[in-house]
Amino acid sequence: MKKMPAISRLWWRRPKDTNWAELSPGASYHGMWDTVARFAAEIRASDFMAEMIRRRDAYGSEGVMGALDCATLYGLTRWLRPAAIVESGGYIGMSSAFILKALADEKLTAAKLYSIELSQRCDQGALIPDELRSVSGGFVPMRGNVEDFLKRNALPSAIDMFLHDSSHSYRHMFWEFRQFWPRLRDGGLLVSHDVQMNAAFPEFVAKTYAHDKETGRLDAQRTSHYEWGRWGYIGFAIKKG
Ligand SMILES: C[S@@+](CC[C@H](N)C(=O)[O-])C[C@H]1O[C@@H](n2cnc3c(N)ncnc32)[C@H](O)[C@@H]1O
Repeated sequence: MKKMPAISRLWWRRPKDTNWAELSPGASYHGMWDTVARFAAEIRASDFMAEMIRRRDAYGSEGVMGALDCATLYGLTRWLRPAAIVESGGYIGMSSAFILKALADEKLTAAKLYSIELSQRCDQGALIPDELRSVSGGFVPMRGNVEDFLKRNALPSAIDMFLHDSSHSYRHMFWEFRQFWPRLRDGGLLVSHDVQMNAAFPEFVAKTYAHDKETGRLDAQRTSHYEWGRWGYIGFAIKKG
């Protein structure tokens, strides 16, 4: 009988005390799909989701992330267990709340979410429940333009996760991906909302591929992502290198 290959621990869930950077070289990311889907299903059925939808509807849902994408974002964040996250387009904080909830559920009390919002008029982070905002001081609201924060070097130079949810023009999305990709550590996550709006996300991912000139086969050594995908309107890519 043919011997089955050993199943990597990553097929289910990495142990809590494992740093993702240790897992990256040669790691299998097949297992992440199940893990993210399981976390996403958990949060969709939760009281937290019901409460966030109630808050969103009371405030006005225009321009905020929908339930499916919030659940995916939560699942990705729990799976990664990041320490430093930047999000562009924090607005009233629907996406921020789900990131902070994932950090809280993983007991990542030292993790920080740097949330950038351009508009002076919106009540930044208004939807975030108080207990998530204050417990660890993990929510760091930054009012202004992403471009200016980058110019002033006001953001961490090394991050584990970046979420794009600001201006969804092709140009701006592609520009943000290019700015934040180099800041991501090996194994870090680039996440984008509204990837259906234009071809910026698939074109960015296409640029992370390398192929052998002769055979056309994937050159895994030079390819600079481990995995990527799209779920609903969320796109993600796991940085390699
Ligand atoms: C789609 S909304 C974000 C929704 C938010 N993520 C949520 O789920 O509640 C987009 C936000 O991006 C902000 N924005 C647009 N361009 C920006 C830029 N260059 N820098 C920072 N924020 C920007 C807008 O002011 C707007 O509030």
